[in-house]
Amino acid sequence: MKGVVLAGGLGTRLNPLTKVTNKHLLPVYDRPMIYYPIQTLVNAGIEEIMLVTGGSNAGDFLKLLGNGQEFGLKHLNYTYQQGEGGIADALRLAEHFADGKQICVVLGDNIIEGNIAGAAKGFRDQKVGAKILLKEVADPERFGVPVLEGKRVVQIEEKPNKPASRYAVTGIYFYDAQVFHIINSLKPSGRGELEITDVNNAYIQAGELTWDVLEGWWTDAGTTQSLFLASQLVAKTGANNMEEAR
Ligand code: G1P
Repeated sequence: MKGVVLAGGLGTRLNPLTKVTNKHLLPVYDRPMIYYPIQTLVNAGIEEIMLVTGGSNAGDFLKLLGNGQEFGLKHLNYTYQQGEGGIADALRLAEHFADGKQICVVLGDNIIEGNIAGAAKGFRDQKVGAKILLKEVADPERFGVPVLEGKRVVQIEEKPNKPASRYAVTGIYFYDAQVFHIINSLKPSGRGELEITDVNNAYIQAGELTWDVLEGWWTDAGTTQSLFLASQLVAKTGANNMEEAR
């Protein structure tokens, strides 16, 4: 399985912090935000990783991460997203890199306490389709929210006013190679972006989406409040089961 970290976007919800730099280069406690999703992939045994970035600070990622030596990697792959087309549009750029293999996609602002090695193993064995990770949260309306019928996710609603469950769809996704065909069939949403939720709904319709509940805390870091919370959580308990490395 290969790994893709999505670290583009304008990060407008963090203005003015993101006026002169990319959101994923901002500090979360003692490290740049981008370190955490890379570590998430590495801890799951994924060593072939591509970073999708964009904007005018793309070169800073190279300077910061190089070939990923700090993570024990031999090499890191990079690609550049022109403009602001949404998460699914950014993922499209990883098609060549994925080369028909399964991928694990992590949004660059998603930080976890534990690890996803178990889910990655489950998806390797699943072989086809997609897998998402859910987490119970106090404010599901900020996220993609699953509609559950028993144990079946029958739909995902993006930032619903009236959430159908207490779960958020976290920004950690497993896909087979069909994902790139699905992206090519998507239409932009109301906010003019290709939505990852539409990708997941296509897998649901095909009856090929599985889900797990993520263990340990999870947070995004894309708003002022959640960025602050992320730093507090990392300071208190550490992230990525990596406390011993600090
Ligand atoms: C994105 C997805 C959303 C998901 C969230 C996780 O939202 O669209 O479904 O729950 O990431 O962090 P964004 O924060 O980019 O608006």
